Amino acid sequence: RLKRQEANVLCVGLDNSGKSTIINQLKPSSAQTQDIVPTIGFCVEKFSTSSLTFTVFDMSGQGRYRSLWEHYYRDAHAIIFVIDSGDKVRIVVAKEELDMLLHHSDVKHRRIPILFFANKSDLQDSLSSVKVSQMMGLDNIKNKPWHICASNALTGEGLQEGVDWLQDQIR
Ligand code: GTP
Repeated sequence: RLKRQEANVLCVGLDNSGKSTIINQLKPSSAQTQDIVPTIGFCVEKFSTSSLTFTVFDMSGQGRYRSLWEHYYRDAHAIIFVIDSGDKVRIVVAKEELDMLLHHSDVKHRRIPILFFANKSDLQDSLSSVKVSQMMGLDNIKNKPWHICASNALTGEGLQEGVDWLQDQIR
């Protein structure tokens, strides 16, 4: 395929789950930033892979900014949902956020692909992607393609598998 497609990818997840670190890993190395600071509101990043130009909206996960997410649902071609698999207590909160996303009128009836990263898989007591998937109730998502990958955003492990899947869904 010669023409590179453009895709808007929305990256959401609770604060501290690792969204900014993941986006930073996905960018070409020349564009990588060294110090990641907590996202205030949101941050837009644009980068290209062989077949896609991604415009990623890295949304802040902090509670007071979460209502911003929904304004970007309408134009999103795909969603990356990042979960801290080392934070068992807050997975419940992450599930609530996911359920709100899935019930939103701009998401509900659309076949929008959702990629989940069970991030921080390097942490000693982190949950497996299967366990995270169970706790998040992902099997209940019937009208959208979804995929979950365990990831370590610090090393980049697991990220490429996820992005490859996402690319196949968008093409
Ligand atoms: P907000 O901008 O507040 O929504 O947070 P965020 O989701 O963008 O998280 P961020 O990328 O800022 O990462 C939060 C912290 O987790 C940082 O200290 C990261 O270095 C760390 N972190 C991110 N990914 C991983 C991972 O895979 N493993 C470990 N051990 N730490 C990680």
